[in-house]
Amino acid sequence: MKLIIVKNYDEVSEEASKIVIDQLTSHPNSILGLATGSTPIGLYQKLIEANQMKKISFKNVTTFNLDEYIGLDMKHPQSYHQFMYHQLFSKIDINMSNTHLPKNDINHMHEHAKAYNDLLSNTKIDLQILGIGSNGHIGFNEPGTPFGNETFIVKLEEQTRKDNMYFFNSLEEVPEYAITMGIKNIMRSKKIILLASGIEKSDAIYKMIYGDVTESIPASVLQLHPNVTVIMDDQASSKLPK
Ligand code: F6R
Repeated sequence: MKLIIVKNYDEVSEEASKIVIDQLTSHPNSILGLATGSTPIGLYQKLIEANQMKKISFKNVTTFNLDEYIGLDMKHPQSYHQFMYHQLFSKIDINMSNTHLPKNDINHMHEHAKAYNDLLSNTKIDLQILGIGSNGHIGFNEPGTPFGNETFIVKLEEQTRKDNMYFFNSLEEVPEYAITMGIKNIMRSKKIILLASGIEKSDAIYKMIYGDVTESIPASVLQLHPNVTVIMDDQASSKLPK
């Protein structure tokens, strides 16, 4: 695991953007794995700027998102479909038909999980972008998820729903279920960058890097991946040995 520690959120976004820009410069037809949540927003902003300045193009890029809430209409402002459209896709030169997120209507959720997994099984992500939950989740693989899981339906932990509440009006509005790539899908990526900012991530970051590899801290599985870079700010890294 390569560790990059910088001062603040803006520098996390900057370091991450350099890695994505290098990837797209050397391999313009890359397959990217994308995350939602608050952490990658700064990175996406920098990628939009690089695209507008013609430093990189997304014309030949394909994307796969990690996850999506179940039961929210895809047009709901807090669906990850909408998040990705507004935070990135609508502002870059990507072909929307090359962007993939799990479909999420509740009546067909198991078919959607299988269909998404089939898509993922027929491809290989070149660069996967990850955030981390305060409980150590990656994607929506909550503590206790078997490392062998492929795309599946997950019941979100109360803590995760509380952490994500700031995007909604109340806890009741935060969906209880989501569809997520499994750990096995994530581990098939050729290269992974994990971004973390803020003191609330410091415990999970410490356990991910220095703790046992255990299903109770899903991100700890990344110790077994050959090409992971963790980019974190002073606060997120504050529990690491100096
Ligand atoms: C989002 C995702 C999650 C988030 C994590 C951190 O697609 O897969 O694992 O990366 O919950 O969320 P934020 O960045 O909001 O702290």
